Amino acid sequence: LTNTNEPIGVAVVGAGYWGPNLIRNLGNHPGFELRAVCDLDLDRAHKAVGRYSTVRVTSDLDEILDDTRIGAVAVATPPSTHLPVALACLGADKHVLIEKPLAPSTADARKLVDEAEARDLVLMCDHTFCYTPAVQRIREMIRQGVIGDVQYVDSVRINLGLIQPDINVFWDLAPHDLSILDFILPDDRRPVMVAAQGADPIAAGKECVGYLTLQLDGGAIAHAHVNWLSPTKIRTTIVGGSTHMLVWDDLQTSQKLSMFDRGVDLRADSLQGETREQALISYRVGDIIAPALPEIEALHAVAGEFEASIREHRAPLTDGHAGLRVLDILERADDSLASGGVAVPVSGEL
Ligand SMILES: NC(=O)c1ccc[n+]([C@@H]2O[C@H](COP(=O)([O-])OP(=O)(O)OC[C@H]3O[C@@H](n4cnc5c(N)ncnc54)[C@H](O)[C@@H]3O)[C@@H](O)[C@H]2O)c1
Repeated sequence: LTNTNEPIGVAVVGAGYWGPNLIRNLGNHPGFELRAVCDLDLDRAHKAVGRYSTVRVTSDLDEILDDTRIGAVAVATPPSTHLPVALACLGADKHVLIEKPLAPSTADARKLVDEAEARDLVLMCDHTFCYTPAVQRIREMIRQGVIGDVQYVDSVRINLGLIQPDINVFWDLAPHDLSILDFILPDDRRPVMVAAQGADPIAAGKECVGYLTLQLDGGAIAHAHVNWLSPTKIRTTIVGGSTHMLVWDDLQTSQKLSMFDRGVDLRADSLQGETREQALISYRVGDIIAPALPEIEALHAVAGEFEASIREHRAPLTDGHAGLRVLDILERADDSLASGGVAVPVSGEL
């Protein structure tokens, strides 16, 4: 499979709301040949592939597991089914691209990571936002030192949202912010503690408004505000660096990303013998640059990374460990909520 340029046979399991996006992108990608779509609801699977398609449609996962021409499977079933479905695919020696969240708990996610590693298979999480041109560029700029040291990340993801029956607002919206953070932060700015505060003002039985604060290595901080009860939709992330600051507004149609040559510097020498208030503070106000971003659908890039990691026999950019780290922070956030919002250590060793 890995030594040839033949397209990799792929199947998609789950053809509900998100699955059709995977079907379309994997179906159109030159690296893959879409061979089958599986959904317990056959009508949905038929609708997703279209009336004239020759792609096989089935409600029986075993048909996919037994097909040796299928080397990879994309899983877009509900999170509660991720463990059995993905474990079966890995057990049949298929590489797996799995929707976020990787699993409903770190314990389940760990089983998937271990199984993939034991079988030397790719396990990739579809952390879709990480493959948007804006986030790819932010990561690149941070890693190349363009904005200096990361001092803070401030993220807002709020709208009048669907109150989910089984999860709180953190589990619904924050996986996006956490997977983006995991992707863009440099190695010397990893999360060490998390504190979560939430409120349920409409008595939904779960937090509908939430604030997540992450202490990062080196004294930096990250904050995510997630809210189902906001009258307007906001999707903005600010990354403060010691030399430049980035503002990403995902709702803009053009100029989603801006880089500000702005900053506040405290002159170290001015601190000697003076109080903090008397120290010399200088404000820098320079140009604002709008980096040119390619027009590419994130899921096309997801498919490309899935193919490349299979062929190059390497971990994908958003591998199972990235999925585990996101889940660990969500679980620790639940611990923090249960204990009144105290900061809880996160495990960095995932
Ligand atoms: N990456 C993103 O931005 C993004 C966006 C939306 C949803 N998602 C994720 O995609 C996944 C699916 O979400 P959705 O909103 O499409 O859900 P959905 O309920 O609309 O669709 C799930 C489909 O899976 C089918 N299914 C359930 N169990 C199955 C099984 N064992 N075998 C085969 N088919 C089965 C159902 O019949 C249904 O058609 C979730 O993990 C969700 O978090 C990701």
